[in-house]
This record gives sequence, structure tokens and C-alpha cells, in this order.
Amino acid sequence: MCGIVGAVTNGAAGAGPADAVVDGLARLEYRGYDSAGIAAVSGGDVVVRKRAGKLRGLLDELERNPLPDARAAIGHTRWATHGGPTDENAHPHLSGDGRLALIHNGIIENFHSLRNELVADGATFASETDTEVVAHLLGRAYGGDLTAAMLEVTKRLEGAFTLLAVHAEHPGTIVAARRNSPLVIGLGDGANYLGSDVAAFVAQTKSALEVDQDQVVTITGDSVAVVDADGRPVENRAFTVEWDAEAAVKGGFDSFMDKEIHDQPQAVADTLRGRTDELGRLQLDELRIDETILRSIDKIIVVACGTAAYAGHVAKYAIEHWCRIPVEVELAHEFRYRDPVVNEKTLVVAISQSGETMDTIMAVRHAREQGSKVLAVVNTHGSTIARESDAVLYTHAGPEVAVASTKAFLAQITATYLLGLYLAQLRGNKYIDEVADYLAELGRIPAKVTEVLERQDHVRDVARSMKDTTSVLFLGRHVGFPVALEGALKLKELAYIHAEGFAAGELKHGPIALIEDGQPVFVVVPTPRRPTLHAKVISNIQEIRARGARTLVIAEDGDTDVEPFADVVFRYPETPTLMTPLVSVVPLQIFACELAKAKGYDVDQPRNLAKSVTVE
Ligand code: F6R
Repeated sequence: MCGIVGAVTNGAAGAGPADAVVDGLARLEYRGYDSAGIAAVSGGDVVVRKRAGKLRGLLDELERNPLPDARAAIGHTRWATHGGPTDENAHPHLSGDGRLALIHNGIIENFHSLRNELVADGATFASETDTEVVAHLLGRAYGGDLTAAMLEVTKRLEGAFTLLAVHAEHPGTIVAARRNSPLVIGLGDGANYLGSDVAAFVAQTKSALEVDQDQVVTITGDSVAVVDADGRPVENRAFTVEWDAEAAVKGGFDSFMDKEIHDQPQAVADTLRGRTDELGRLQLDELRIDETILRSIDKIIVVACGTAAYAGHVAKYAIEHWCRIPVEVELAHEFRYRDPVVNEKTLVVAISQSGETMDTIMAVRHAREQGSKVLAVVNTHGSTIARESDAVLYTHAGPEVAVASTKAFLAQITATYLLGLYLAQLRGNKYIDEVADYLAELGRIPAKVTEVLERQDHVRDVARSMKDTTSVLFLGRHVGFPVALEGALKLKELAYIHAEGFAAGELKHGPIALIEDGQPVFVVVPTPRRPTLHAKVISNIQEIRARGARTLVIAEDGDTDVEPFADVVFRYPETPTLMTPLVSVVPLQIFACELAKAKGYDVDQPRNLAKSVTVE
């Protein structure tokens, strides 16, 4: 929610910071697209351009009204919280004297009282935002030292914030601060960068520094200084950005969504790569949690939101089966408010593509306070969840730009399966050769996903023919249940269609009342090689068909049992039960994407959403 980028150069030749900021904004637009704005320091002034709406509006404005040459620029793409998506509420915001510009991601919870205090003292405001309050406070605190002003003002703020400020008197400096919102530093040659995540500066540098809670950062083209809340210098952890700048462009596809659906074989393969030794044993060296602790845990709780939670839901089936450890899956925002039973024998697994979902961050903190070890399954290096957890198992899906998650889902299932197999190996629940067999099966998944993708035309045709549909139901059993939930979520968020996923066994306990003539129902059918499970789902299809449902069935190749009861069949290649979510979800992703496009919607930036939900 809200993307932040800053660039500063030492003035030597090369691309100007404004270009780097515009490039960063394009890569961060997934974080919010209610408005975009940029401020640069030039000729002793702060110059601002900003526009409501998507980045395109700002780019048009910059063409009409280019920014002057500058050494420092900051840019913002907004997901509105305080105040509607208007030009006035767009960031950057200015201090009372117009000499300082500020951008912000997060929510200043005590902004009302601060605003009242400023108004009583004669301040006038140009926007309804909480951010402008901070711009005024900084302007007033400034006495020649922008870093000192930032340290002073952040002490008065409550809530979550990443702040970036420039001042007219410091043409080559950006000062930033963070609390409960993301910020990373990019280290260039004669230039340095700041961003909400590494995508902001991936086209400029691969060398990065983490920023911890309550730190204040001052960058120039040649220097980076980080201090804690008391102004004491600190050393931060450096890391190398693994993402490729090219991975975050559409590369010939109509949309990032299309591209990322097609990236999935690679995302699974990359997440598996390098995780076995020469004897085929699973090695997760990065886990960094003592093996004796991993042997002694008696419960796993997965905390996550949305699609990541559905990945956790899938993982529960596999981990319990392989490791005989109870696994609970909890929506991260419910976790800490219900006084969960967690202790040092609980392993909490936090799954997050962005690593910045505030609800998941708060769950991680709560679990650690209770003495649990937290293992993060995260896609974004340098992110808060990765930094604050005891260990990280990275998914290697590459940058996911489309707001609706696709390749991260497959990578999350893959990574949590690796975790399950590793625990099974470590705790002696599975022999090494059994683990090797499962790994080999996982290794065959990229080719199977490719096969499903090759059959996409059929899914697309059906999706286009259903563009006037107003409600779709999804049914699944066992690991097919979270797949049904994910199929429904994709359709809701991309095509704005009422869609609900149910456990197929739950049908007769209520949802079957929804079935009427022509009601489309997707059914995720397990492999016929699990006859009991398979027969139950076939019965469910018959039950809804008998009541007039139009059945769209996802079934394994060669499963002829479904044919008499299916109006449409989408096929996936023969796959063992626990691995099926990795292939059976793909037609559902394509269906949602295609139906949304048929309705004329922007599949990369669905309405009301932002990719990283960085506020609770
Ligand atoms: C759905 C989607 C969201 C995210 C959720 C968690 O397509 O993208 O439901 O899965 O907001 O985000 P992360 O994984 O970044 O924590």
C-alpha cells in the first residue's frame, strides 16, 4: 500500500534521479494506483508534480511540464486511506513554508490531535491526508539539519510510516524514517536509492541494505548514514538483490497477470533448485533454527492472509501427512486477537509474498513474544517478515507485479512442501528415499504446469462465453478445497463477480440451496487413483447437476468418470494427490483472468486493491 521511491546522485554525469524515480514508480505501481507524484530539489526550490489516478496521468503531466534538473527526487504511488484519490491528496505534501516535500506510506494514528495543534498554531492545510501533518511538523522542526528534524518529529508520531523528505536547502540529500512500514536502501555508484521494496531500484543496482525499525536514514549520492531513534549510528545488513529488472516487465504478454501465470513452471523450478545435496538429501541450510528445536516442536501454526493463507491450507494436508505434526492454519489478522495457544514447542510459519503484510507482521511479532520460533516463507528479500523471523525459506518466484497473486501461490506451496519433507526427514517420519521420491514428483511439476498452460485456449473460450455470469461457485475436497477457495478469490478480485468456494462435503449442509438452473459450479476433482475421495466428489457433481447446475470440472487426464456429469471438463496431467493443487489451480487462474479481460477490466490493477496490505 503506497509505493515509495527516492534517488539521489552526486551530480556527476548519468541518468538524473527523476528518471530513476519514474522507473521505480512504474515498478511499484502495484502497491497503489490512486495517484502518483514526484518532488525534486532544484535551483533552491522544491518542485512538485502530482496527479490523481494511475501513473500514466503523472507521466502525461511530466511531458507537458518537465521537472528541472535535480540531484534528488522522491516519488509516490498512493493507495488512499485518509482523503479521497484527488490531486490535492496526492503525495508529495509540502511544509507550511513550501520548502520541504514529504511522501509517506502508512497511517499516522494520532494525526487528528497533531492537526488540531497545528491549526491552533496557525497552520493551513491543502489536503485531507495524515501525511501533510508530518510535512508541517518537519517544516517547523527544521533548523538547518533535516536528519535532526526527522528524529525529533518521528518521536511524536504514532502508527505506521515510511517517510521520505527533501528540503530546498539540501539539493543532494534525502532523509527517510521507518516504523512498521517497509524501506530498503539501494547502493549505487555515485547514486543511492530508497524504496518500499527492491523493485523500486532493481533497474539501478543489485546492492542493497536493510533498514530496521525506528531508524532514520540520510542518503546523498556518495554516502549512506543510518541512525537509531536516539541518533546513534548503526550498521545494517547488506544483501544482493536476486531479482532481475527484466523479470518485472511484461515481456510480450498482454498483462503482468498473463505473464506471471506463464512464469509458474519457472517459479516452481527455481524454488526447488539447489535444495538437495549430492546424495539427493533435502538441505535447507537457510533454516537457521536449531535441529533439536525442530525435532521437539509439537504443533505448527501457519499464519498468512488471502492467497498465501490458501497455500498454507494446502500445506497443512501435506505436512500433517508426512510429519504427523498437527498443523493449524490461521488468518494472520485473527491470530493475535484470539489468545492462541502458542509456546516454545510451536513452530509458526508465516507465509507472505511481499513480506510486508501488516497483519502477518503483527502475527509474527505476537508468536515470537510467546516464545515460538517463526519461520517465514517469503518472496521478497529484505522485507520486514524476512528480517523479523527466526528463519526464512525464500520462494524464488521473482517479482510478482500483478496485484492478484498467481506464481507466488505455486512457489509458496512448493516451499512449504520442502519444509514438510525436511521436517519428515529430520524427525525420521520418512526415509531419505521416500523424501527423494516426493522431491522427484515435485521436480516433475513445472513440466505439468506447462502442459496445463498449453491447453489454455479451451479455458479462455469458456471464460469469454461466460462474461455475463453474475455468480460462480467452486467446490473441492481435501487439497482441492483450498484450490476451490483460491479459484473463487481470483474470480472475485479480477472479474468482480460473486464467487464462493466450499468444501464439497459441506454442500448438503447448506450451500446446495444456492443451486438453481444454470448456476455455474466449478468442481476440482481429485485423481481417480484415490478412489474413495474421487467417488465422493463424483457424487457431489451428480447432486448439483440433478438440481440444474452447470458443471465445470477440473479433472485428471483419462478420468472418464466425470464425463457423464460435466458440462465442461478442464484437464490436468496425471499427478499424485498432494501435488494436484500445483496444477489444478492453473485453469482457475486463467479462467478468472480471461473473464475479467472479456469484461474490459484491468487484470493487473483491480479496483480497490493494492498488492501489499501494509496497514491493519
Ligand atoms: C490475492 C492476493 C492477496 C495476498 C494477500 C497476502 O490474489 O494477492 O490475497 O495473497 O494480501 O499478501 P502477501 O502474500 O504479500 O502477504
